[in-house]
Amino acid sequence: MSESVPFTDIAMDDAMVERVEAVLRSGRHVKGPECETFEANFAAACETDHAVGVSNGTAALLLAMKVLDIGPGDEVFVPAHTYFATVSPILELGATPRFVDIDPERYTMDPDALRDAAAASESPAAIAVTHMHGQPAAMDELLAIADRHDLRVIEDAAQAHLATVDGRPVGSLGDIGCFSFYPTKNMTVGGDGGMVTTDDETLADHIRALRNHGRDESGEHVSLGLNYRLDETNAAVGDEQLARLPSWIDGRREAAAAYDDRLNACSAVVTPATVEGATHVYHHYPVQVPAGEREAFRAFLDERGVSTGVHYDRTVQAQPAVRERVDASETPVAAEYCARTVSLPMHPRLSDDDIATVCDAVEAFAEGER
Ligand SMILES: Cc1ncc(COP(=O)(O)O)c(C=O)c1O
Repeated sequence: MSESVPFTDIAMDDAMVERVEAVLRSGRHVKGPECETFEANFAAACETDHAVGVSNGTAALLLAMKVLDIGPGDEVFVPAHTYFATVSPILELGATPRFVDIDPERYTMDPDALRDAAAASESPAAIAVTHMHGQPAAMDELLAIADRHDLRVIEDAAQAHLATVDGRPVGSLGDIGCFSFYPTKNMTVGGDGGMVTTDDETLADHIRALRNHGRDESGEHVSLGLNYRLDETNAAVGDEQLARLPSWIDGRREAAAAYDDRLNACSAVVTPATVEGATHVYHHYPVQVPAGEREAFRAFLDERGVSTGVHYDRTVQAQPAVRERVDASETPVAAEYCARTVSLPMHPRLSDDDIATVCDAVEAFAEGER
């Protein structure tokens, strides 16, 4: 059997460990300078005026929607293919998610489908758009529709740190950007963590208050916040990881180009699209396999030491917790994609041999060796 190829690989180095040790010895564990430094550097990287560190990506989305006043009676448009956490905050706030189908090439919210959904909506309030797998959504078109219907725009950039559209980083394109640093993401904080980005000072201040029990600068509890703070040790790791992220993205993009070279011509799979003007950061490298063959494909690769993942196996409205709360129609493109998608190993340290092992296995499957 070939060397095994892990699905992902989380980088921690001595500099990160030393910085955490310094924080631990400093005695300042929350609300300190590490969070402020990380926020300033993250805002600069995203080209936004503000970045606010929070406890995880789900909290980022919840707080973003809260400060945009999303609540009962509001309809929020979301792609049918995204992680559950894009949708759960909408339901938590008593608003209604409206599921929009995806573009068959980009795998992100389809502007034509949004146009129809917004026209049919009685109380359109916002879009929560996901840059899925690291591929930026069609923001120019989506923003134009948002403008026409007066919709607020939340970017779920949990899988797409530093992806760009015409040179502009995601998280700077809508009203608010939301990021996750969960350990499998393109950068982590060595645990759970999240970030909210915005150019709007009022929104940023409101989120800063809500993450810390609704306290303002004077210490008064002026709004009903809870505790969604980002710890100092996590912020220290995040800041170190952020500095390395551009070179890690290069590594991911090189790996994706090498996969494309071998697999674009392979009959068993459909490879991800490269979109003019968009920089994909390949949180995942998803391929579509023939309908009904996913489990056989994954087992075949597994036998050859290649780990795979599925992101995700169904649309969000097909999840039981959503199905029982929302009467949503199916979205055929997203449903078919979810039935066929498989994510191949992807991280910045994939070697040429790793790529060859994966591609040999995929091609052997295509040639009928199964
Ligand atoms: C697209 C998307 N949105 C939101 C989240 C939620 O982030 P977290 O796990 O940090 O709460 C994730 C990651 O898990 C995600 O992939």
